[in-house]
Amino acid sequence: MSSHIQIFDTTLRDGEQTPGVNFTFDERLKIALQLEKWGVDVIEAGFPASSTGSFKSVEAISKALTTTAVCGLARCIKSDIDAVYEATKHAAKPLVHVFIATSPIHLEHKLKMSQEEVLDSIKEHVTYAKQLFDIVQFSPEDATRTDMDFLIQSVQTAVDAGATIINIPDTVGFSYPNEYGQIFKTLTESVQSDNEIIYSSHCHDDLGMAVSNSLAAIEGGARRVEGTVNGIGERAGNAALEEVALALYIRKDHYGIESQIELKETKKTSDLISRYAGIRVPRNKAIVGQNAFSHESGIHQDGILKHRETYEIMTPQLVGVSTTELPLGKLSGKHAFAEKLKALGYDINPDDQINLFKQFKSIADKKKSVSDRDIHALIQGSEHEQSAIYQLEALQLQFVSNGLQSAVVVIKDKDGSIYQDSSIGTGSIVAIYNAVDRIFKRETELIDYRIDSVTEGADAQAEVHVNLVINNKEVNGIGIDHDILKASCKAYIEAHAKYDADAKEKEGIQS
Ligand code: KIV
Ligand code: ZN
Repeated sequence: MSSHIQIFDTTLRDGEQTPGVNFTFDERLKIALQLEKWGVDVIEAGFPASSTGSFKSVEAISKALTTTAVCGLARCIKSDIDAVYEATKHAAKPLVHVFIATSPIHLEHKLKMSQEEVLDSIKEHVTYAKQLFDIVQFSPEDATRTDMDFLIQSVQTAVDAGATIINIPDTVGFSYPNEYGQIFKTLTESVQSDNEIIYSSHCHDDLGMAVSNSLAAIEGGARRVEGTVNGIGERAGNAALEEVALALYIRKDHYGIESQIELKETKKTSDLISRYAGIRVPRNKAIVGQNAFSHESGIHQDGILKHRETYEIMTPQLVGVSTTELPLGKLSGKHAFAEKLKALGYDINPDDQINLFKQFKSIADKKKSVSDRDIHALIQGSEHEQSAIYQLEALQLQFVSNGLQSAVVVIKDKDGSIYQDSSIGTGSIVAIYNAVDRIFKRETELIDYRIDSVTEGADAQAEVHVNLVINNKEVNGIGIDHDILKASCKAYIEAHAKYDADAKEKEGIQS
């Protein structure tokens, strides 16, 4: 029996199925490395048969990670399993996740298969996967709407064929805690095997019960929880892993078993995913929301001052939220800056530090004091720019007449080629976006535009998020700059670049 609750992170697979979320290759790699630091046991890095982009990401993540197991998703199709094998063969701990639906509604309308055919397919494909992998995980998709006898038969078939991890997806977020927990109890009592079988939960949040259901699964005997950071994912999302990990930690008196998550890395992990996914964490979100550790009412503030635990069940420091900070200013030198980077947990090479110090100075000239959040934003922004496919070289705006603006946009790609165009519009942003559309020679529909201030105060850096629809595909982009118009332009350029990258990835899709 596993001595801890294994955390299976599917941010890069189910999480990336969130509408409008498309991570780039570099982002996937950075996310995987941070997830390893966070201490997850397994990363589901993608669905290698779905596209060359997913294949390449799973392959690169497999090569990069040293302690975390890397998993790839496969339908009950041999070429899917082969693709996972090829993509994960360099991983320190590779595994395959094979799935097929088992509910009547999926059998009748989606698969058009009988129960016997599904059982045959499970036997054939799990047996095949077991020849290539030591560890095979099997999921009966839509398990919670599957007849219990058939669910037991499906799981027994997978176990007999060599699966040692059984994941029970609540695919449409339909179950409730008692019912979901009972499924695990029934399966652990009914399914026979000489091997140790690890049961795993996989919950969607359609009714807002994904985390509660995951915890109920643990009470029912599950020893692995699948989910995503910040709960991103299809429709209403997946179980938020940070909430599961903290529930196990804070209520160990009840659950009696914990995860091996490095809790101090939680906020950093959440911030990274939020930024790359372009999905802001709600202020009141448990554990990682901005208000999670704020106390507004006088009675609460008074209580906190008298004894912290009157109104706080955990400290912000526990999840890596720093509250006491010494801000830097324009008189701070290289040494203070280097010490600050170290204190914030960054290990940056001397050349990059020189570059960052210059950027820090330019922020310090504009702002009275440079907070830790400014420094985080500076580093993340600089990493973001370095990995960007296009750099904004120049942006010029001019008032024309009758409220019309003209914009000239110049961008440079990684090979140094320059692209430029100009346009007019009914405002600065429209003019800029029209000019960028002309550079990429395509029409777009802007469906979301959001400015977040990276830090507090009127002199804060701006982080602009955009979502565009290009040829029926939704893509997102982020731009960070002190100048809102430049940030807006960078975000829009990034969305176009992501569309190109996604189109390239799709070139390799198999049917
Ligand atoms: O929700 C689901 O059923 C899934 C499966 C592929 C495991 O994500
Ligand atoms: Zn799912």
